[in-house]
Amino acid sequence: MKIISYIQTGGGNGKSVSTLQTCAGLIKAGKRVLAVDMDDKATLTSFLRAHVKKGESELLDVLLAVGRDDDPKPVLEKAIKQTKYGDVLPTSDRLTNEGAIWGSDMLNTLLLQKALEPLQKQYDYCVIDTPGRQGLLPTMAMVASDIIIVVVKPEASGLADTYKMEKQIANAKIIREQIVKKDFKIDGILPTMYVPRSTHYKEHLEYLQAWADKHDTAVYPFYIRRSMDLSKSVDKGLSIFDYKKSCNTAQDYEVLISHILDVTK
Ligand SMILES: Nc1ncnc2c1ncn2[C@@H]1O[C@H](COP(=O)(O)OP(=O)(O)O)[C@@H](O)[C@H]1O
Ligand SMILES: [Mg+2]
Repeated sequence: MKIISYIQTGGGNGKSVSTLQTCAGLIKAGKRVLAVDMDDKATLTSFLRAHVKKGESELLDVLLAVGRDDDPKPVLEKAIKQTKYGDVLPTSDRLTNEGAIWGSDMLNTLLLQKALEPLQKQYDYCVIDTPGRQGLLPTMAMVASDIIIVVVKPEASGLADTYKMEKQIANAKIIREQIVKKDFKIDGILPTMYVPRSTHYKEHLEYLQAWADKHDTAVYPFYIRRSMDLSKSVDKGLSIFDYKKSCNTAQDYEVLISHILDVTK
């Protein structure tokens, strides 16, 4: 199982939407996919129509089981739901309330990586959506991931968010390499909500490239264009491929999926 996470410290950059399209695209390619919603806003859970009802298990229960040194398997089995675009380990706002008790113990950054271990043979891909802020949850996601994709809206706010991530990425890298003993790679920076004709956007891409050079990565040579179809499709609980296969944004996400399939061969 290859684990991919979409990260960005600011909200509204297109992480959750990109996670949904990635799951849908990988399912279309015949892969076994698990989505993990690490954002207590539960946007991905809601896109996938996998709302956690009162009393049901969710991501938090799996992380707590690992934290207690219990076998996470029975909780995973209870929590994972089947959806149109693969399985999902859903979340709810319980994640914020109870997550606060974890504090900054370094070992807690390993909880997700350990939780996903028993699923290694069950899925080809695990795609993680993360919250748009700093803290333990995005670090947990990075520590668990084979591939990290930084999602950014090439505007001043997206750029500022990206520059804020430096320390967090450095910490995650140390933990993954020194404790998990696996590679740490930011595969690329994905510009989203892109308007190709805008010179303003092109300038921002240059700043992003400078950031990428410092982090041993690159701005992808492709981007996701802005389109109203995307917002409409998620409102209907559909991937852009099922909503309007011929639109620009569907073609852009096709390119991203082919790239992911290629780098994970
Ligand atoms: N390429 C795009 N074109 C138009 N709207 C987009 C695009 N990508 C995302 N959006 C919209 O922007 C908003 C934020 O996207 P979302 O994926 O929830 O961001 P994040 O998860 O980073 O907070 C949503 O309303 C979504 O529909
Ligand atoms: Mg989101």
